[in-house]
Amino acid sequence: MRHLLDFQDVNKNHLENLIEKTRSLEFKSENLDSLALLKFDEPSTRTRLSFAIAAEKLGIKTFESSDVVSAKQKGEILKHEIETYVSMGIEVLVLRTKENNIDDYREFKNISIISAGFGNKSHPTQALIDISTLYSLNKINEKRTPVTYVGDVKHSRVFESGRQLLNILGFKVGVFTDKKLLPDNKNDLEIYESWDEVFENSNAIELLRIQKERLQDNEELNFDEYINSYQLTKEVLGKSQSDLAVLHPMPINIGIEISKEAIEDSKIKYKDQLLHAIPSRVTTFKYVRDEI
Ligand code: CP
Repeated sequence: MRHLLDFQDVNKNHLENLIEKTRSLEFKSENLDSLALLKFDEPSTRTRLSFAIAAEKLGIKTFESSDVVSAKQKGEILKHEIETYVSMGIEVLVLRTKENNIDDYREFKNISIISAGFGNKSHPTQALIDISTLYSLNKINEKRTPVTYVGDVKHSRVFESGRQLLNILGFKVGVFTDKKLLPDNKNDLEIYESWDEVFENSNAIELLRIQKERLQDNEELNFDEYINSYQLTKEVLGKSQSDLAVLHPMPINIGIEISKEAIEDSKIKYKDQLLHAIPSRVTTFKYVRDEI
């Protein structure tokens, strides 16, 4: 078996042959399989796996990368990174990042870019999951707000995309949380002050975890106080309507946004959401490829 570690053991004929073949090899990206790059710069279980499975189902080959292993570490600019992907035939970039420079990505024309969780700005495929689940459970109805988000709304991209999607469909969303965790933009929101008010106005709630990784130093939260007021417990569930649906995008921090007893309640519907994870990514791939 041969190696190519350096040119020490390669004879001149082989070298000339290598150069000749490299120059003459036809490379036409349109003749290759459809390629997608899954670039995840933050941890993920569900989103990464479901995008990979969705791609497999559609015959799209996937590759993985992240900032940790990319030349961004050596100062490469975004334009050069994207040009590289395009030149290698990558048609779709699926990106999870902690950064908030979403507008920088809109200018690229020769590649489709999908947010798989973009800073605190967007997580559109999660919103597709959540709203599809609400429709399946018949919770998009005449209530004042079809869903109320409870928890760390301020830093939540799941909330931002869910709110955006529901607003476009003509609905307002509810919010019930600590004042420190309210978003800066409160337009189109109904802010509720108690669980009773939440249950009166919504037949579904979506719990959000406290995103400790995004809390700034000046946003220190008293966790005991937060848990006391906003944790979903069996007692709180006992006050809700019998057909309440409780969503959670996951990961769930049991003991913070929900108690360990409440997580077992039949009103908790995260498994219904999980059933929509692969379909949401299949339809997203189809959408960006102009197939639906
Ligand atoms: N809901 C969600 O985005 O989960 P992951 O972080 O595991 O992908």
